[in-house]
Amino acid sequence: MHKPVMLIQMMELLSVKKEGVYIDATVGSGGHAKALLERLGVDGRLLGIDRDEDAIKRTEKRLLDREGQCQLLLGNFSDIKGLAQKARVKEVDGIVMDLGMSSEQIDQGDRGFSFMHEGLLDMRMDRTQAVTAEKIVNTYDRGEIADILWNFGEEKASSRVANRIVLARQKGRIKTTKELAQIVSDAKGGRRGRIHPATKTFQALRIAVNRELESLSKGLEEAVGLLREGGRLAVISYHSLEDRNVKQCFSQHVGRWESLNEGGSRWKGSMPVAQWITHTFVVPDQEEVQQNPRARSSKLRVIERIKNAEEKKTKTK
Ligand SMILES: C[S@@+](CC[C@H](N)C(=O)[O-])C[C@H]1O[C@@H](n2cnc3c(N)ncnc32)[C@H](O)[C@@H]1O
Repeated sequence: MHKPVMLIQMMELLSVKKEGVYIDATVGSGGHAKALLERLGVDGRLLGIDRDEDAIKRTEKRLLDREGQCQLLLGNFSDIKGLAQKARVKEVDGIVMDLGMSSEQIDQGDRGFSFMHEGLLDMRMDRTQAVTAEKIVNTYDRGEIADILWNFGEEKASSRVANRIVLARQKGRIKTTKELAQIVSDAKGGRRGRIHPATKTFQALRIAVNRELESLSKGLEEAVGLLREGGRLAVISYHSLEDRNVKQCFSQHVGRWESLNEGGSRWKGSMPVAQWITHTFVVPDQEEVQQNPRARSSKLRVIERIKNAEEKKTKTK
């Protein structure tokens, strides 16, 4: 069986310390957590976070043999600082985030994430929250729906799809994934290529339901703040909107040197200071994409917190 390149690369780029403290902020089914635990010694510690209760329950069972070293917390990584505090963790050697949905969430029809499976239009990762995809498509006005599709799905036919949704719901509530997929497909004139016409609509609704981009911006900032010097933050994103957020946040902390009129230069960026570990980003190889088509658009970026910008200057000299 082909080894998952992204997972191995992520572990290598994190340069895991045996006695280190790590956070997996999207623990899912525990694949990355397990890989981290395999690299930690008896004094190492791992905190796993997920906003989906099913994921926490599943992973608790999977990592039972490392219970003493690994603590799992239900919560949103947008509050990673508060969650770490709860676990009495002040600073860490590394944080991983593997964004988006897990295959379990996608494959479970009743979660409503995928047009490939029949299910109620839910899409909540945290099932205690009030807003579902069903609520958005049946109660938001046409303009709001079009904005969601445009902003979070980059759906060029956003107005046309929103019109169709509003028209369809006049006949009765749109309740299931397959119903919505059909409405979108009709609005876009049916399937032409390899990609299903409802792909962008489903992505957009999922991002809106879970307020994913807001969580990501806040979570990234808090995560950088939790790193101790030499600590690393590794993020895998799955679409351009996520990646843009990651790139922007990381670039801000890496900063840049500005030349001054009076001579010399000054570093400009956000504190704490970081440096790139991946100069651009890492992508999976062809075999990995064949085995896991979702990995097709994934990108891994890693930064390291350093003492100050001068350190970066001396290191790169
Ligand atoms: C791609 S999966 C992670 C898979 C995991 N790396 C593994 O090896 O099994 C993404 C996970 O992140 C969780 N998630 C997404 N956004 C989150 C957030 N803002 N806070 C906490 N968990 C989140 C999802 O519920 C899902 O379980």
